[in-house]
Amino acid sequence: MRVGVLTGGGDCPGLNAVIRGAVRKGVQEYAYEFVGYRDGWRGPLENDTVPLGIPAVRGILPRGGTILGSSRTNPLKAENGIRRIKDNLAKAEVDALIVIGGEDTLGVAARLHDEYGVNCVGVPKTIDNDLSATDYTFGFDTAVGIATEAIDRLHTTAESHMRVLVVEVMGRHAGWIALHSGLAGGANVILIPEQRFDVSQVCEWVTSRFRATYAPIVVVAEGAAPQDGDAVLKDGSLDSFGHVRLSGVGEWLANEIERRTGKEARTTVLGHVQRGGTPSAFDRWLATRFGLHAIDAVRDGDFGRMVALKGTDIVRVPIAEATAKLKTVDPELYAEVGVFFG
Ligand code: F6P
Repeated sequence: MRVGVLTGGGDCPGLNAVIRGAVRKGVQEYAYEFVGYRDGWRGPLENDTVPLGIPAVRGILPRGGTILGSSRTNPLKAENGIRRIKDNLAKAEVDALIVIGGEDTLGVAARLHDEYGVNCVGVPKTIDNDLSATDYTFGFDTAVGIATEAIDRLHTTAESHMRVLVVEVMGRHAGWIALHSGLAGGANVILIPEQRFDVSQVCEWVTSRFRATYAPIVVVAEGAAPQDGDAVLKDGSLDSFGHVRLSGVGEWLANEIERRTGKEARTTVLGHVQRGGTPSAFDRWLATRFGLHAIDAVRDGDFGRMVALKGTDIVRVPIAEATAKLKTVDPELYAEVGVFFG
């Protein structure tokens, strides 16, 4: 059996741990051979491969990023994309593909399997934790840890200058990172994409939290938007790689707070720091288990399925179940946190 492995979409701490788990078990227990595909779906599309075996996965457990590289290439949009992938897999004598990715990458895997008979097993990945059908994705815990540490640090500088500090965290469609890091870091206001915010209300909360020696922290997810300010925040323009640009809700909000409350405000945009570097112990644990279970799914011929965390068990679900609908923050959960505002 020859197994191809690819990592697609935004990088995420724990990708290397998945690769290592699958390769080690595949080689040592099942005597499988592996082929690494470079840069997500671009690899099988262009037959760009790298050797993948025990030597390649040695020492990569604590390393961030992905040894295979990543991209957001979508073969369904490429000319003869499906045919080229099928031909290239046949040429490389690859019998099955382990596809590690988020909504877009896995969406392609689901279609390749369901409509074109390619043997794919999916592994869910995103720091945003917004994939359905799994309780958690690896990378999320690391991102929350990084954001929480940043918030802790910002508390002391906010207090020293009596400034409002607005911290913009990742989360284009879902506010999981904002919610978890905001709660863990003792933020005074948390704003998420799932619920439009009222700027006047935010300013009231900010004003009411000022004490003689305390200045508030506002955590805002990059995809959050004010009730009436859509056009201000998202112009929908694409960068040169075709990705939608998000235009700085944190900076916009800090300016509004300063203008409306008269309190000095600053913004920190955490950006890709949240995706880089070594994975947390939890993410290494989860990613390794995903890798071990993914190779077992290959052994069982259980294709079109994705490994997922349910409670403490790793289960298999149809890949399409994970990509059909994003997992967003439940309004009740968000309301629960609101007790700390104001
Ligand atoms: O999906 C993960 C994520 O980090 C989002 O939180 C963020 O909006 C997006 O990727 C950024 O993508 P890129 O690295 O392509 O700018």
